[in-house]
Amino acid sequence: MEPLDAYLRRQRQLVEEALDQLLPGTDCYPPVLMEAMRYSVFAGGKRLRPILLLAATEAVGGEVTAVLPAACALECIHTYSMIHDDLPAMDDDDYRRGKPTNHKVYGEAMAILAGDALLTHAFELLSGPPLSERFPATLLLQVAHRIARAAGSFGMIGGQVMDVLCEGQQVDTAVLEYIHRHKTAALIEAAVTAGGLLGGGTPQEVAALQHYGHCLGWAFQIVDDLLDVEGDAAQLGKAVGRDAAQGKVTYPALLGVEASRQRALSLMHEGVAALAAFGPRAERLRQLAAYVVSRQV
Ligand code: IPE
Ligand code: IPE
Ligand code: MG
Ligand code: MG
Ligand code: MG
Repeated sequence: MEPLDAYLRRQRQLVEEALDQLLPGTDCYPPVLMEAMRYSVFAGGKRLRPILLLAATEAVGGEVTAVLPAACALECIHTYSMIHDDLPAMDDDDYRRGKPTNHKVYGEAMAILAGDALLTHAFELLSGPPLSERFPATLLLQVAHRIARAAGSFGMIGGQVMDVLCEGQQVDTAVLEYIHRHKTAALIEAAVTAGGLLGGGTPQEVAALQHYGHCLGWAFQIVDDLLDVEGDAAQLGKAVGRDAAQGKVTYPALLGVEASRQRALSLMHEGVAALAAFGPRAERLRQLAAYVVSRQV
């Protein structure tokens, strides 16, 4: 099996080529909007959500190239969420993916609008060609519905709202868990689930993938919190120490670093256990789970 590093590089390239094709070009009108959208999408990034979607499709025996537009849709939603998360009214961050944040370059109004456009573009990709030429409309509707639910008020936005409202507050672990499971785990779960659905997975397979995706997404945010404490800003491409400075509700703040690391590891094991029935077909997903908890970036 190809080493994980090489696989990640190859999948990233695949996703980035597809994104370049599927995002509006800067020759479209109004060009500043298309530039602002492309600025943040192509600033860098691990492309974890699209890569997980593709790996889930592979795990159920589906065809990766056919689902690439759905993988790109997930990256559009994720990038929009980062642009808005960095705004002065939210986390007020100046660096993202190793570059000045979108609003620093294009101004707040354009950053809000570029984010809006990326979110909307995701659903254009999910509902139109080339996916609509390849997959039954009922399946695409199901996928779009799951992704919408994960991105919206019952998912990521709900989590972001509580993240903002709880800044500087003393909260219990139930609120901490709500925030992490919604602001981050929901979209990662949706990415994996969408990959399973589009790849033609059985309902049992899709349910197992969903559980894996949820555990992984939750662990991912715990590790993001840990990296804000212990990580390297240059490597991460974003500032560190921001959570403590802003009184954010994080795992290390509530449980301490060591217990947080243990929690991330146990979620990773729970996620991997959900894949038992897949056998060797899910080996990449298992490797990606290990990567999520060991990453330094
Ligand atoms: C950062 O996401 C924000 C979280 C949801 C934790 P990533 O760590 O996936 O950011 P990129 O896409 O690699 O820049
Ligand atoms: C962001 O969480 C989660 C989103 C869904 C946008 P953070 O605010 O911790 O992400 P970073 O640390 O800025 O990347
Ligand atoms: Mg935030
Ligand atoms: Mg932030
Ligand atoms: Mg963070």
